Amino acid sequence: MPAFRIAVIGGDGIGPEVTEQAVRAADRAARRDGATLDWNRLPWSSNYYRETGRMMPDDGWDVLRRHDAILFGAIGLPDVPDHIPVHSLLLPMRRRFDQYVNYRPAYLFEGVSSPLRDKPPGSIDMAVYRENTEGEYAPIGGRLYQGMPDEVAVQTAVFTRRGCERIMRAAFEGARRRRKKVTSITKSNALVYGMVLWDEAFATVAKDYPDVQAGSLLVDAAAMDLVRKPEAFDVLVASNLFGDILTDLAAIITGSIGLGASANLNPERKYPSLFEPLHGSAPDIAGQGIANPLAAVLSAGLMLEHLGLPQGAAALRAAVAKVLEAGQPKTPDLGGKATTAEMGEAVLAAL
Ligand code: NAD
Ligand code: IPM
Ligand code: MN
Repeated sequence: MPAFRIAVIGGDGIGPEVTEQAVRAADRAARRDGATLDWNRLPWSSNYYRETGRMMPDDGWDVLRRHDAILFGAIGLPDVPDHIPVHSLLLPMRRRFDQYVNYRPAYLFEGVSSPLRDKPPGSIDMAVYRENTEGEYAPIGGRLYQGMPDEVAVQTAVFTRRGCERIMRAAFEGARRRRKKVTSITKSNALVYGMVLWDEAFATVAKDYPDVQAGSLLVDAAAMDLVRKPEAFDVLVASNLFGDILTDLAAIITGSIGLGASANLNPERKYPSLFEPLHGSAPDIAGQGIANPLAAVLSAGLMLEHLGLPQGAAALRAAVAKVLEAGQPKTPDLGGKATTAEMGEAVLAAL
């Protein structure tokens, strides 16, 4: 029986609440493929930082590397400056483990109403391939005259041809398994270096995929079209920052950010990949037990797929679809009154 070692970092706020439900559901689903998952729970979080002055122990990266995958909740606490957990754990993990594909599907499930009018189930069905290791998130820059009236901050975006091309190839490969349409998200009218390189890389890569319809949209117009005609999108490929922003939008038009799954993939499998809901630690509802765990559950489903457990992955997604179609239980983000645990139980029952 194949066994996989999974590192679990619940993190802060609703992170541990939703992750616990994802662990239970994935544990059950993996049996469909005759696999077992060994869960290694790591307490790394902003609380851990408050107690120890760091986000992880000295050998943290080596510990993580010994796992087949990482299941992550969310990090961020109101009284710890956000850049500390984000820049000592989450973003370094994406870079260090070369998880350059951030795959974020968005699907309007039956039984869920979109805030957009008259959208039938399945009419919104897209996948965003977000560049995850460079772009606007590169920690390149500095501050001068700190605290003085003439203070200056410089934040430099980094775009490499290799970085652009590899996420674009992943997007085109993904489109071949879908409706064969890729939209590149750009802003080359204003960002004349990085985004012009982005466009050129897209033109180069698109030539290798003549069977896939390739198009380009400026990010501002894309934001509008995601609301105006979301049906038009199949695969989107976007830079780190644009992909971040558009995936919150893609999640909400499919009903809730609490349904937005995400996989941070190292396609070469040299390092463990990271699976997490795209939402944050939601301090406004943390500790109330009302967060929607389905984004975390769906992310765990993406993890099963990546581990080569296709039946478990399909069963998890089907269980989520069944719970949503039934219309209850529903957490408050979906218009109901159910708790996180009740949603988790319903998924287990559907499994
Ligand atoms: P957020 O995603 O945490 O919350 C935005 C809104 O969506 C809130 O109203 C919240 O209640 C709601 N929401 C989010 N997830 C939900 C769920 N599963 N069920 C129901 N409602 C849900 O974004 P934010 O408020 O901008 O950020 C809060 C903190 O989370 C910040 O510290 C931020 O840096 C961090 N953050 C972390 C991650 C991550 O770890 N991957 C991702 C995004 C934000
Ligand atoms: C996400 C989050 C992160 C990001 C934050 C916490 C840095 O918003 O995973 O979408 O911007 O990538
Ligand atoms: Mn985000």
